[in-house]
Amino acid sequence: MRYASITDRLAHLGSGRWALHHTARRMKAEGEDVIELTIGEPDVAPDKALLDEASRAMYAGRTRYSNGRGEAPVLKALVDKYSKRRPGVTEKNFLCFPGTQTALYCVMTGLVEPGDGVLVGDPLYATYEGVIASTGAHMIPVPLRPEKKFHLQAEDLARAITPEARVLLLNTPHNPTGAVLTRAEIAAIGEICRKHDLWIICDEVYEQLIFEGTDFASPFDMPELAERTIAVSSISKSHAAPGFRSGWAAGPEEFCDRLLAVSETMLFGVQPFIADMTAKALSEHFDTADVMRQNYASRAAIVEKAFAGSNLVKPMPPEGGMFILLDVAATGLNGEEFAWELLKQEKVAVMPGTSFGDQAANFLRISLTVPEDVLETAMRRVGDLAGRVVLKAKDAPPHIR
Ligand SMILES: Cc1ncc(COP(=O)(O)O)c(C=O)c1O
Repeated sequence: MRYASITDRLAHLGSGRWALHHTARRMKAEGEDVIELTIGEPDVAPDKALLDEASRAMYAGRTRYSNGRGEAPVLKALVDKYSKRRPGVTEKNFLCFPGTQTALYCVMTGLVEPGDGVLVGDPLYATYEGVIASTGAHMIPVPLRPEKKFHLQAEDLARAITPEARVLLLNTPHNPTGAVLTRAEIAAIGEICRKHDLWIICDEVYEQLIFEGTDFASPFDMPELAERTIAVSSISKSHAAPGFRSGWAAGPEEFCDRLLAVSETMLFGVQPFIADMTAKALSEHFDTADVMRQNYASRAAIVEKAFAGSNLVKPMPPEGGMFILLDVAATGLNGEEFAWELLKQEKVAVMPGTSFGDQAANFLRISLTVPEDVLETAMRRVGDLAGRVVLKAKDAPPHIR
């Protein structure tokens, strides 16, 4: 049978990226005691009041069709939230989606097509390449440099721009590096986007998970970038509710009007009972994000401490999010080789850096979503493997080192 080319374009970008994670899950299902530090699944439950609200709304008959833009209570809650960041936004600046991922997919579909280029910092969140490729556009990677704490540099962006470039896909706080862009950095990046007439899509799903001493900044909040910025986010991370699939896009009125037809064609609305729960999540304070923020910051500190004196494994301290990168280049193995050996020999599952782009090839991404004692055990095993790998390389005859 014949298939559309999208299936070819995405064939190597889907679950292949998560091969190690799937193998670890299989090993666990077969009874092996694997420590899983792969995916970004919050390890706390959503607040009970939110579960109650979803259930109440469902029993109250909020199970019918929704309109395409989003239910009134959630749109109001979004206006309240975002007008604190940029006064003057209205319901016409929003569209609801089942999660950031769908928002990214739909927004990208509305902005680019075959022949266009999308600039994105490398390392990058694993699904971005697929989101871009699905439209037929091509990805233009912009290196995020470890010596700049993986903060996208305006001059690196300027250097990467080609005549086909239409969109910059930003992510702050960043997965997998944990980098949080400053206002000044975003202003400099924005200046270049204005000069080259680029859209900015800003994935802000980790907005609530920024560690002490760092502030959130977004191009959405800057009036001079308002006409070209679309922010996407959800309650997946902020409220530990990824399974509810509830997110949104915030952008210029004209953009939202145009994208509404695309979104309606794709989704025919979102789920009213989940919208009610989302409205509650956005309009009241819940301490879920505070708890996670503290947990992830102190777990990141544990990982940093574990390798403080190591010349084999180098932690890259995050400023936010739920991950930390480890540079394992000094072991002589790249991230992919190290991660598979770690799973095989030490029963610890981490994501190889290669799942997040070429620039991350020497890194492991550690998910900070397990209790401290488990994380300490896992990091001890990482250190043990690193030591053994190097010893073995020293013992090997020179020609195979
Ligand atoms: C950077 C980034 N964007 C988007 C997503 C997907 O978020 P959602 O659950 O809202 O679709 C994730 C999930 O891990 C992520 O890390």
